[in-house]
Amino acid sequence: MSAAREAPGPKGHWFWGSLRERRKESLHFFLRMHREHGRVAQWRMGPVNRVISLVDPEHVRHVLVEHVGRYTKGFGGKRLSAMLGNGLLTSEGDFWKRQRRLAQPAFHRERLVPMVRVMEEEGRRMLERWRERPDSSAPLDLAEEMARTTLSIASRALFSTQVIGEAGRVLPALTVAQQEVNGRVLALLPLPLALPTPGNRAFLRARRTLDAVVFDIIARRRRGETTGQDLLAMLMEARDADTGEGMTDAQLRDELMTLFIAGYETTANALAWTWSLLSQHPEVEERARAEVARVLGERVPEAEDIPRLRYLSQVLEESMRLHPPAWVLVRQALEDDVLDGFRIPADPRLIVAISPWTIHRQPDLWPDPERFDPDRFTPERAAGRPRLAYLPFGAGQRLCIGTHFAMMEMVLLLAQVLRRYRLRRVPGTKEEQEPLVALRPRGGVPMYLEPLDA
Ligand code: HEM
Repeated sequence: MSAAREAPGPKGHWFWGSLRERRKESLHFFLRMHREHGRVAQWRMGPVNRVISLVDPEHVRHVLVEHVGRYTKGFGGKRLSAMLGNGLLTSEGDFWKRQRRLAQPAFHRERLVPMVRVMEEEGRRMLERWRERPDSSAPLDLAEEMARTTLSIASRALFSTQVIGEAGRVLPALTVAQQEVNGRVLALLPLPLALPTPGNRAFLRARRTLDAVVFDIIARRRRGETTGQDLLAMLMEARDADTGEGMTDAQLRDELMTLFIAGYETTANALAWTWSLLSQHPEVEERARAEVARVLGERVPEAEDIPRLRYLSQVLEESMRLHPPAWVLVRQALEDDVLDGFRIPADPRLIVAISPWTIHRQPDLWPDPERFDPDRFTPERAAGRPRLAYLPFGAGQRLCIGTHFAMMEMVLLLAQVLRRYRLRRVPGTKEEQEPLVALRPRGGVPMYLEPLDA
């Protein structure tokens, strides 16, 4: 340990460190740090916090896979828990392990097959909405459309109900909650929730609304007033193998809220970026459409079709390489560690950052990294890369539990839209990346829709 060195990085401003450069350069700051300082780069974020950022797949393996017990989610998890409670994304240790074991079977590929119908129906409803809109020549914000649809899918998959349609207060509450989650996670020092600031009061009101809706759904299900082959049912049936115990209402609330919030916005953003990229690469769009025509024709898609829509998966994989919705994963060392000769101290003020956005742009792993090329994901080309060169869903034991769910949903929605519309970007628009908790296209993705069956 004594021979270990400090990771290199800029000295920065005496008070701000590199915070101002990080804000100004946004994501490109990470790329520059690694270009200038190597594979383990360090900088200060304001007077208190330091960041050590990693881009080498072997270093990522060290933290997320091999020595996972030496790291926790730390500060990132704590800040998210104001909204998500102690759910899968934010919990740690034995409690997390137990909850993951209980929830995991509900996310196996075979158990998700009934969800395909829900996804397909919601995709169809979206297309109907588009067909029936009064001014069909006006541009449509695809980011918003994708969010509406993934929200409906999440709601039905979790609870078998259209919470959004049923209760007009859910969507505004969710928006306030999301803003607060973004604000808290990105703030230098978030204010304690107990302080009655207008922001805190609005957040607590929104959280109460969402809690009331979720607890009511749980209560009605427990009383047998509703049924459904949904994730709620699977989580309620789940029993701990050792103790035989199921989840309490409070645990169910935290898990459901986590799945809802972790599930819909990430998926919506990945799809929004995909439409943006396809509109800029018509040859890729046509190849994807040809695959849909070959595999599906005019049939209603089924679960078995998803692995056959291979090129669509590649398009989504390449889209998430360039725009991974979870653009950074953060960890904190629980014990002092050494990585490649550099010190990683167990210090709650030190953030270990693993940024898929940055890793997905390392030129030795991804030649010509800014080029959109779905053929990077053919099995032959993927075989030549280290596995952890690509991690849109994370890695190791904290890998996204919704990976299959999200891929199924995205392939289906992509296929449904490609079959009916060609999307054309509004001239003069260009999506900028907005790295909040999820990586969003700032200002949405406005598109003209050209119907193909007209
Ligand atoms: C394109 C869509 C999605 C992306 C890019 C994504 C990305 C991620 C990533 C990177 C992690 C790991 C975070 C970390 O290690 O700190 C994660 C965890 C998680 N995701 Fe996803 N996700 C997506 C969709 C979903 C969906 C649809 C669901 C639920 C239905 C979901 C539920 C979760 C949960 C519960 C965790 C925490 C797992 C654990 O720690 O045990 N995600 N996701």
